[in-house]
Amino acid sequence: MSLLELDDVKVHFPVRRGLLFDRVVGYVHAVDGVSLTVEAGRTYGLVGESGCGKTTLGRAVLRLTDITSGRVLFDGTDLAALPGEAMRRARRRLQMIFQDPLGSLDPRQNIESALTEGMAAHGLGDGRAGRRARIRDVLERVGLPAGALSRYPHEFSGGQRQRIGIARALVLEPDLIICDEPVSALDVSVQAQVLNLLEELQDSLGLTYVVIAHDLAVVRHISDRVGVMYLGGLVEEADSDTLYAEPRHPYTRALMSAVPVPDPDLEDNRERILLRGDLPSPASPPAGCRFHTRCPWRQPERCDTERPELTDIGGGHRVACHYAAGIADGTVRPTTELAPRVLRDVPPPREAAEPARETMTDG
Ligand SMILES: Nc1ncnc2c1ncn2[C@@H]1O[C@H](COP(=O)(O)OP(=O)(O)O)[C@@H](O)[C@H]1O
Ligand code: SF4
Ligand SMILES: [Mg+2]
Repeated sequence: MSLLELDDVKVHFPVRRGLLFDRVVGYVHAVDGVSLTVEAGRTYGLVGESGCGKTTLGRAVLRLTDITSGRVLFDGTDLAALPGEAMRRARRRLQMIFQDPLGSLDPRQNIESALTEGMAAHGLGDGRAGRRARIRDVLERVGLPAGALSRYPHEFSGGQRQRIGIARALVLEPDLIICDEPVSALDVSVQAQVLNLLEELQDSLGLTYVVIAHDLAVVRHISDRVGVMYLGGLVEEADSDTLYAEPRHPYTRALMSAVPVPDPDLEDNRERILLRGDLPSPASPPAGCRFHTRCPWRQPERCDTERPELTDIGGGHRVACHYAAGIADGTVRPTTELAPRVLRDVPPPREAAEPARETMTDG
């Protein structure tokens, strides 16, 4: 059963100029026609470079940002059509946790008061004692001592603060949690602990997640399904195992090639695709395929003029590339000096001396 369904969702931010910022001179196409489905009790991983629209999409689902067009169906209800009070009630069931939980925690508020606030606003918990009991239960679930209640955000480590962020969402008994870069600010060893915790909580509470990350490695193990975003649109989507075993979109392959593998032999032979140039501005996205300015397989005419649709190539594996089949079977070859190479076998071409950016550049 699907819990969340996005249907051609667009979020365009007006770009204003003029003395009074009263003249709209264009639009940032932050999210530009995303359709996807999140199954109840499952995890949907959303990946892509910084600036491709992931956070905006998450905020749009919660209606923290207005959508320009399209529909967001949560448990069968069109959220955009809900009047204020109904949306407020729906919001309890939809929570978001952030990369930096400190940023969303008031430094002067102790943990108990921070967690109680949301419960009180939604009329949850039976009086003060009931709320406290509920909060203690949740703290235990997220692996924090009960003594944490009277302490303040700055007294905790990064990993503990993220646990507090999770607890704050959990006390509201949500059905869906959007986790926006939940471990990006944490040390690698702590990242695994927090991801494991999210998985345990999903198993015991039946939660549904959307996990947003700029790093494919982060969403790999936790996700059932993964969507890859580029400049406001999905370019590929598949079940997690399929996507990692058979990435079909050139952008996905580039992202994948930036993830080191632990086996040294495989690591030496790993395909490396350096994406040259910056992400184009979402205020003036390239015509045709949005990825054509950086795609090593770009073909004449069609890539520059015709935007490829996300198309099912079998078994729910969706790809937005005119040449996905030809690239997979080798009949469509890389066309430029940006061609991927296996580092050990092929000496780097001379162009490699000029600055080429790694694919992932998030802070
Ligand atoms: N409130 C806003 N007004 C104008 N532009 C915005 C706003 N929020 C985000 N953007 C722009 O939308 C694009 C997508 O941003 P974001 O959703 O934060 O990407 P991501 O989370 O993938 O890094 C970026 O170009 C960003 O600058
Ligand atoms: S449509 Fe063309 S430019 Fe776009 S990803 Fe496919 S080959 Fe590359
Ligand atoms: Mg973001």
